[in-house]
Amino acid sequence: MSSTSPGPVLDRTDPIPDIDLADPDPARTPDLERILATLRPVHPVFWHGPKSRPGFWAVIRYAETMRVYRDPTTFSATNGMTLDSLRPGPDPASGMMVEVTDPPEHRRLRRSIGALFADGVVTDLEPEIDRYVRRLLVAVRDRGGTVDVVEAVASRVPTHAAGLLLGLPPADLDWITSRTSRVFLSRAAADDGGDLRQEAEQANGELLGYFSRLLRTSRHRSDADGLVQRLAAGTADRDALTTGEVVLNALNLAIGGTTTTRAALTNLLDALSRMPDVFASLRANPSAVPTAVEEAVRWGNPVRHLARVATCDVELAGQAIKEGDPVVVWPRSANRDEAVFAQPDTFDAGRHPNPHIGFAAGPHSCPGTALGRAQLRAVLRHTVDLFTACEPAEGARLMQSNFLHGYERLPMRFTAAGDHLFT
Ligand code: HEM
Repeated sequence: MSSTSPGPVLDRTDPIPDIDLADPDPARTPDLERILATLRPVHPVFWHGPKSRPGFWAVIRYAETMRVYRDPTTFSATNGMTLDSLRPGPDPASGMMVEVTDPPEHRRLRRSIGALFADGVVTDLEPEIDRYVRRLLVAVRDRGGTVDVVEAVASRVPTHAAGLLLGLPPADLDWITSRTSRVFLSRAAADDGGDLRQEAEQANGELLGYFSRLLRTSRHRSDADGLVQRLAAGTADRDALTTGEVVLNALNLAIGGTTTTRAALTNLLDALSRMPDVFASLRANPSAVPTAVEEAVRWGNPVRHLARVATCDVELAGQAIKEGDPVVVWPRSANRDEAVFAQPDTFDAGRHPNPHIGFAAGPHSCPGTALGRAQLRAVLRHTVDLFTACEPAEGARLMQSNFLHGYERLPMRFTAAGDHLFT
């Protein structure tokens, strides 16, 4: 279990500690969770002065995060959803790509995507996802020794699932994994020299080109029935997407679906390796897997921040936000809010209710929640079936990203089970 010791008690007149929330290197602020826990009750919304990025309002408490999520008229997503992509005017994809479009136009795009998710697609994919996960974990068991679970499991499952959903050619999946793993690398802080952001932008451009080509070639195939093809075929529909919209939203689904889920899977496996009691309790009681999955998303919360811009002057937790100010929510902090979650730093596999906002809330809340959960459930279920324990090994490295919290490398050792729960 993880626990943070309470920090010094602040009051509203105390200055904000000199932290850089936008720093892509989590190692530079190892006590960030503790600092945020101290700040939450007294400075739930504060001006984060310019550091490695221009300044922004940081929203770190649950109640105010919900207000921002649920009010897209005041807190617009059109200027970009991350600190790295945020710009003074609308994103060029705004009005066409779901994540950078506000209601009412957002509703048309969400209907097209949502309808394709809703008609049992995920339920139909689940057995294949389950079989795939089992194969990967059996290979981990058979290989033995130390295994980097990012390479062996967490990077593969989301691309496989997205490939099934989007109708991507299996031969392309490794390349897609290699590109999506780069898109949320952050611009390095000035004193770092290197600029990972350039690499990220190149990966994004290559994926955009890929989906344009895929759509062109799928139009001529009658055997292709993935989401890309179904989105493209919706031409007679009143919500029909243009070709440009199909390409951008397929890209949004592929990137949104794989990067977040990969990070969530690494956080889940990390939690299991650090908490042998949680592992043992789930092995003894696998019916707790669904609540443990929710807790893994709350506790390990892969999406560190989401950006919005105020469309008018507004007050939030007593702060006077001006029209045009960037407003950035930090759901990792909101999901540890002690006003909402009892013992928020404890991983409670049976936590219920668990109103976490790891999949966000409001109009932009994640449409891929069911698919993300299905993957986490499969990995957790087969891990506690095939193994009796796992432990961290040397060489773990967190992603260099201020947007995603997850591991780039996560070596672990597993103890194989003599008996199985499910087979
Ligand atoms: C554990 C896995 C996942 C997590 C933690 C997650 C998290 C999130 C969050 C926090 C947002 C809100 C963005 C915002 O408010 O600006 C979001 C949006 C989105 N997610 Fe997910 N996601 C996951 C899996 C998936 C999957 C599997 C897919 C699709 C295959 C997907 C596709 C999307 C899309 C398209 C959006 C934009 C929705 C909109 O703006 O209306 N996500 N996700």
